[in-house]
Amino acid sequence: MNAEEVREKSLAEIKQAKTTDELDKLRIKYLGRKGILAQLFAEIPELPNVDGRKKAGQILNTVKNAIEGALRAREQTIKNREQEKLESVYFDPTTPGKRVPAGTLHPLTQFRTFVRETFEHLGFEEVYAPHIENDDFNFSLLNIPPDHPSRDLWDTLKLDEKTILRTHTSNIQVREMRSRKPPIRVMSFDRCFRHEAIDPRHTHTFTQFDLLYVDKGVSMANLRWLSEYFLKTVLGKETKVRFRPKFYPFVEPGVGVDALCPFCSGRGCKICGKGWLELAGAGMVHPTVLENSGVDPATYSGLAWGFGPDRMLMIKLGIEDIRHFYEGDLRFLKQF
Ligand code: PHE
Repeated sequence: MNAEEVREKSLAEIKQAKTTDELDKLRIKYLGRKGILAQLFAEIPELPNVDGRKKAGQILNTVKNAIEGALRAREQTIKNREQEKLESVYFDPTTPGKRVPAGTLHPLTQFRTFVRETFEHLGFEEVYAPHIENDDFNFSLLNIPPDHPSRDLWDTLKLDEKTILRTHTSNIQVREMRSRKPPIRVMSFDRCFRHEAIDPRHTHTFTQFDLLYVDKGVSMANLRWLSEYFLKTVLGKETKVRFRPKFYPFVEPGVGVDALCPFCSGRGCKICGKGWLELAGAGMVHPTVLENSGVDPATYSGLAWGFGPDRMLMIKLGIEDIRHFYEGDLRFLKQF
C-alpha cells in the first residue's frame, strides 16, 4: 500500500467504527509501533535521494495527522451518541429509592424483654455473670462436688483445669450474694454452654433464666407464688402449676416446676406427652451456698428458680427445633 491508499483505507475504517474499543484497535493497526505507518516510515532511508526522502517524510506525516484527526473526531461522535442514549432513557427523579428491609428483634431477645419486664415489676434487677467462668462459681461454691455428673467431661466445656464455659446461669448466685446485702432480688437471662449431642431439643449453646431472692423469711410459699405468677403470665391465666420433688445440689428442698399443658389441658398431646410440661427447676437456696456467699443462714433464707427460655418459647410459639434459635436463618427469624 502506498501512502495515499493507507489514508483512504484507514479513514474509511475509522468512519465505520462503532465503539471506542474498535477505535483503539484501528489506532494500533495504523499508528502502533509495528503499525502500517511505522513500516512505511521505516522504508524512507532506502529511497535514493535526499529530496525524495524529505518528500516521503512529509507525505507520511500528513497521512499520520489525518488519521489522528479522524480518530479523535470519531471518538467524540461515539461518546456523544452514548450520552444521547443515556439521556433518552426515561428517568423519574421522584421515584422512591430501593427499600432496605428492616430487621426485627430475635424471638429470644423479645422474650427476654418480656421476662425482664415481668420481674422488674416485682423488684428484680437483671444482672450478668461471665460466660467464661471459674469452676468455683459454676460448681464448687454451689455445693456441686467434683464428682457430680454435670461436671463430667462430656457435659462441661473446659478451657483449662479451672476455667470452663458456664453450664448454667446459676453462676450469678454466689457472685451476687457476695457483692450485695439482702434483700437481694436479681435475675439473669443469658447464654449457657454444654457439651451436648445436638438434636431438635439440645444444642451446645442455649439460654437459661435464673432468679434469686434472698431476704428474711423467704419461703416455699414465695417460690410457689412466683412460679404460678410467671407461668400464668407466659402461658395464660388458666395455667395450672405443680411442684415435684427434684434434686439440685444448691437448693434444699429442690423442686421441678411443671405446668399443665395449655394445648390439651392435660389430656396428653404431641407437645407435652403426658399432660404436664416440665419447665423449671427451683428450690430454697442451700444453707451451704448461703454460707459460701457470706450470708448467714440463721438470719436469711433465699429462693432460686431457673428455667429454659428456649423450651418455653418453643412451646409457646410451636417451634419444633431448638437449633432454629441459633442458626440465624432469615426464613425462621422473619416470622417474628
Ligand atoms: N441451674 C439449674 C440447671 O441448670 C436450674 C436451677 C436453677 C435449679 C435454680 C434450681 C434453682 O438445671
